[in-house]
Amino acid sequence: MIGTYPGIHFGADYNPDQWPSSILDEDIALMKEAGVTMVTPAVFSWARLEPAEGVFDFAWLDEVMDRLAAAGIAVDLATATASPPPWMGHRHPDTLPVTAEGTTLLWGSRQQYNPSSATFRAACARLVTAMAERYGHHPALAMWHVGNEYACHITESFDPESRAAFRVWLEQRYGSLDELNRVWGTSFWSQHYGSWEEIMPPAPLPTFANPAHTLDWRRFSADALFTCFANEVRILREATPDIPITTNFMGMLPWLDYWKWAELVDVVSNDTYPDPSDPRAARALALEADLMRSLGKGRPFVQMEQTSSAVQWRPRNAPKRPGQFALWSLELVARGADAICQFQWRQSEAGSEMFHSGMVSHAGRESAVWPEVVHTGDLLATLGEVRGSRVRSRTAIVWDWENAWAIAAAIGPVVGDGFAAAARWHATLFERGYAVDFVRVDADMSGYDLVIVPSLFLGADRAAGPLAAAADAGATVVVTHGSGYLRDDGHAYPGGYLGPLAELLGVRVLDIMPRGDGPVEGEAIGTTARISGAVTTRDTCTVDWDGRELRSEWWAERVAVDAADVLAHFRGVDVDGLPAITRRSVGKGEAWYLAAELDADGRDDLVAEVERRIGLAPDLPAAPAGIEAVRRGDHLFLLNHSDRTRTVDGVTGTDLLTGAGITGGVEVAPRSGVVVRTGGE
Ligand code: GAL
Repeated sequence: MIGTYPGIHFGADYNPDQWPSSILDEDIALMKEAGVTMVTPAVFSWARLEPAEGVFDFAWLDEVMDRLAAAGIAVDLATATASPPPWMGHRHPDTLPVTAEGTTLLWGSRQQYNPSSATFRAACARLVTAMAERYGHHPALAMWHVGNEYACHITESFDPESRAAFRVWLEQRYGSLDELNRVWGTSFWSQHYGSWEEIMPPAPLPTFANPAHTLDWRRFSADALFTCFANEVRILREATPDIPITTNFMGMLPWLDYWKWAELVDVVSNDTYPDPSDPRAARALALEADLMRSLGKGRPFVQMEQTSSAVQWRPRNAPKRPGQFALWSLELVARGADAICQFQWRQSEAGSEMFHSGMVSHAGRESAVWPEVVHTGDLLATLGEVRGSRVRSRTAIVWDWENAWAIAAAIGPVVGDGFAAAARWHATLFERGYAVDFVRVDADMSGYDLVIVPSLFLGADRAAGPLAAAADAGATVVVTHGSGYLRDDGHAYPGGYLGPLAELLGVRVLDIMPRGDGPVEGEAIGTTARISGAVTTRDTCTVDWDGRELRSEWWAERVAVDAADVLAHFRGVDVDGLPAITRRSVGKGEAWYLAAELDADGRDDLVAEVERRIGLAPDLPAAPAGIEAVRRGDHLFLLNHSDRTRTVDGVTGTDLLTGAGITGGVEVAPRSGVVVRTGGE
């Protein structure tokens, strides 16, 4: 529980330091009207809290904290280290980040810090210590909010201090230059290193960087940010062992291994901004919610930021449609959120985000946003009994940041697709009505019915055991193309890809055969091309699965079938008749391999086939179009994302939002939700 509030928290980033303190009266009255229960002050207040180096001014924050405590509003207090004040860069240029090209990034926006800077880290420690001393026992304090969105803007720095730290990091990782030279494969292109000092970050180079070098730089850069975070956590834990700690994540952010970060927080929290003009927005929200719940090992998470209406940073900033703010908030709760917070409480009147919506708009209570805010607060206030309950998912997707980094660092065979592949499979499961867990490569997966492993380029060494155990216990394991190419040390597996997964799947990958519709570059081939016009290339191929023709987009592999049934074959130039989908019985379960990149229809077909074979079904089979149905604990959330009233049959219980009884079916109005207490599955 965060603070003492026993329900689903509702709140926002709260930045009253942008106004005279007289705003507090009005803010607190409006918060009460909207049902706000928790706010996050001071995220970007470093310059106000420490106006000159070592000189602190807490007076304004004291007043804010006291007033919030008196109003019974819990505080998720930011440590305020997210954006150093101008004096920092001015007095200590070593704290500023430097780009790969050597440009120093100055103050004037935010997050201008070099993660490896000892000066910056010491300044953070000083501020966090002061914050903990001042507010660690304040009655309003319910949670610590460390930094803000690490790696949102600054992911790496190429300054001399980072360069030196990279060498130390490599020395710790490899122990010896011989081992580094082996892992990096420096016999290639005359890259052998004779001393640690010769090693540089992979800044601009004449041509392709060594993928192992790039991958280690990414690991190092992620670790540098992690150390900044861990330093603050250490201080806070010591000062206030009973106050939970969080830092807000950013969904599938490619730069940080959130599995590792999640181990260090007490509460996982996330920021999400789907585009209201994108019909797939609910899908994007579901993916992030599923990921956050999974990062917390199934525990509820905090939605730390979304917005009440429009953002200001897209080329076109669509406002939310009527009802959508409440609907998406319900969707987040359905998938495991126990707090719904926004950026930000009051819309700024100056600065870069003055046109980003707040819960209180420039037009105040007269804005169309205000009734949406009050309505959302009212709904959340009825959901107290949902707090703490769990979502039980029968499907899982294996997700690993190192894998995505390895794909991004590789020079071919695929151009960076690590995140997109997982998102595509999640989309398929979402549209079919599933809540999905994401799992680490080395997690115990034996409780799931369906485990999908999308393009596990690096990680097979760690995944092979858990996947085999899951199949043995009865799971259907589906591994897709592009998997098992690299060992954990980053070298290619000899003897056919899939490496240690080959035994489980009964196949090995012998050749990679990317496909495409014609040449990537140059003008189209016209009718006068006497020679070129007569050449046949490998364009997009299809997959023949028992007479069904599925599209295989941009990919094919030639596999050796050692011990599996071939379910489907490729059709197309140079792949005609080759196995495209294989299946092998393993213990109580099955292991499938897809050598093809199926499109959305093909993926849907495949999941439908698995459902038929093993009797898998979503929480609400055959839900009407536009209805997302998710079971959380004893409650079934029915969310209507469409513009038409939908009738959902086969539902009995009580609607928590209205208190109405439901017998056999319920109508759900457009862009709204019904939360049914069903009393268990
Ligand atoms: C987040 C950030 C907030 C605010 C918001 C705007 O990335 O944490 O401070 O800038 O975006 O959408």
